[in-house]
Amino acid sequence: MRLILPLPGNEIFARHLAESGGWELGAIETRRFPDGETYVRILSNIANRPVDLVCTLAPPDDGFLRLVFAADAARSLGAREVTLVAPYLAYMRQDRRFLPGEAVTSKTFARLVSSTFDRLVTVDPHLHRYAALSALYTIPTETLHAAPLLADWIAAEVQKPLIIGPDEESEQWVSAIAARIGAPHAVLSKTRHGDRSVDVELPDLSQWSGLRPVLVDDIASSGDTLFEAACKLPLQGFARPVCAVIHGLFAEDSYQRLLAVADRIVSSDSVLHASNAIRLAPLIAAAISAARNVPRDIVRHRRPAEPLDEVERAGIDSFPASDPPPWTSGVSRTRTPVPQQGKGDSAT
Ligand code: R5P
Repeated sequence: MRLILPLPGNEIFARHLAESGGWELGAIETRRFPDGETYVRILSNIANRPVDLVCTLAPPDDGFLRLVFAADAARSLGAREVTLVAPYLAYMRQDRRFLPGEAVTSKTFARLVSSTFDRLVTVDPHLHRYAALSALYTIPTETLHAAPLLADWIAAEVQKPLIIGPDEESEQWVSAIAARIGAPHAVLSKTRHGDRSVDVELPDLSQWSGLRPVLVDDIASSGDTLFEAACKLPLQGFARPVCAVIHGLFAEDSYQRLLAVADRIVSSDSVLHASNAIRLAPLIAAAISAARNVPRDIVRHRRPAEPLDEVERAGIDSFPASDPPPWTSGVSRTRTPVPQQGKGDSAT
């Protein structure tokens, strides 16, 4: 049976995914050594099973090495296929060099993920200058779309909505949502001056006066895009907008700032947040189940399962002296370390 393994912070999403698919929910133990290095231990039996590591990538940097260690451990312990389920996929926006010397992090990140996993499943990655993830990722990828779920939420919760995209890039989501629920839509014009500085201009929206504005975007990061748009709408006589986003990153105090000018704020649960109102697990479970029935070659990028080596056989005696595992008393060590010739001479 398929095994769903959550990385820390992803336990709720992983439980929903396991419940939606009827799969086993496993567990990983992770912690930090005193020196800041990461400890990872897979607590479930994974040999010869397809394994899905659930790890949304917001924020991406802190947990990424831990994720790589978990994926590599899963493989070396014999997992048949190791998939990354990342409801939010990070590093999609720096997709070109805007200034000389900049790192094009979307490419680098894609290379790292592609060299670690067999497959990637994600929801609405920020595809702007690339048409598909296959332009960046060399592993099979599954791109799912939350727009129908957002549309259904709006249809159920908002009377007479006017769907509004805050910038040209959002046209793809707002047009799909508006078409699904038979509502009109409009797109605003955005100029970004910096990470936390945007200007939003409104066209004349007077033909839709009386409708409830619903601002829809894929990502709320600094929140400035939605904040600027929400501040401008009352200038044309509209009520405070409902804000609906797929990925609610809401950095720093952006959620509180936006709450002050919005009627309601909702997001999908791709990133755990107080605004979560739309569950993605059923969508992802359905896609995983459908893919399971399609015969395909599994691309093995890395080594097969490894037999235990001498160090692993040494068990607790090989554990770093600084922090014995919790199932020992932490004081008794039965084996005296054997000094190795040539090692330690230079240690200070
Ligand atoms: C931009 O291209 C995206 O679609 C979002 O509008 C943007 O990422 C939102 O960023 P922020 O919340 O920082 O304004």
